[in-house]
Amino acid sequence: MSLAAISSSSTTYWYLTRSTGAVALILLTLVVVLGVIDVSRLSSDFWPRFITDSLHRRVSLLAVVFLGVHIVTAVLDTYAPIGLWDALIPFHSSYRSLWLGFGAIAFDMLLAVMVTSILRARIGRRAWRAVHWLAYGCWPIAVLHGLGTGTDVKQVWMLAIDAVCVISVVGVVMLRMSSLSTLSRAVRFSAIALPLAFAVGLIVWLPGGPLAAGWAARAGTPASLIANHATQAVTR
Ligand code: HEM
Repeated sequence: MSLAAISSSSTTYWYLTRSTGAVALILLTLVVVLGVIDVSRLSSDFWPRFITDSLHRRVSLLAVVFLGVHIVTAVLDTYAPIGLWDALIPFHSSYRSLWLGFGAIAFDMLLAVMVTSILRARIGRRAWRAVHWLAYGCWPIAVLHGLGTGTDVKQVWMLAIDAVCVISVVGVVMLRMSSLSTLSRAVRFSAIALPLAFAVGLIVWLPGGPLAAGWAARAGTPASLIANHATQAVTR
């Protein structure tokens, strides 16, 4: 197969969307973990804060690069009707609208964080910090997007990636909360209960959701695509 044929192949885009999605999720998880470590002042002489800071920034940039490729290849892949607007406007797509919509929300939140980081000197530290908290909110939404949209959700390696990402974030948030004596018990309890409830919710939902038969139709894959799949033995 010529290079041109390979690069225009829908299957190549499909593989690229899936692999960059998985890498983007891992990097986003790392960004959140490093961010929590940073604000927790969990750094020491052995691991000074500037290293966490610089890693946090570099990994964020890398996550955005992978996310860019993830979105462009999803749009170029002709199998599913996904346009550029679907990446920006939540629930606009006719393909798995809810689950792709979560991806668009996560992406919009990240864009807001990026823009305010660039304008940090102009908008002031308080406003920048307020928007920066969005990055934490976009993480569980991105996890739901990956589970609801991804082809690889049933693969052991993808489940392992999802599990490691969820355990890392829940673990580091719990560590952060246990090190904060200044917060009230109610705030500490809810900050620990929320991520734990998210993890338990996933464990309860997955077997009857994306891991169960017929998820493609229930997730909102257009009936014509499912029919094509059945009659033409499409290899996806
Ligand atoms: C923070 C934002 C996002 C993250 C972290 C993310 C991550 C992921 C992950 C982990 C998967 C599952 C991959 C697999 O199962 O192999 C996935 C699937 C997918 N994502 Fe995203 N995504 C994001 C935003 C978006 C946006 C804005 C779009 C819109 C174009 C998009 C389009 C897709 C598509 C079409 C799939 C399904 C690919 C397949 O056929 O398996 N994602 N994403």
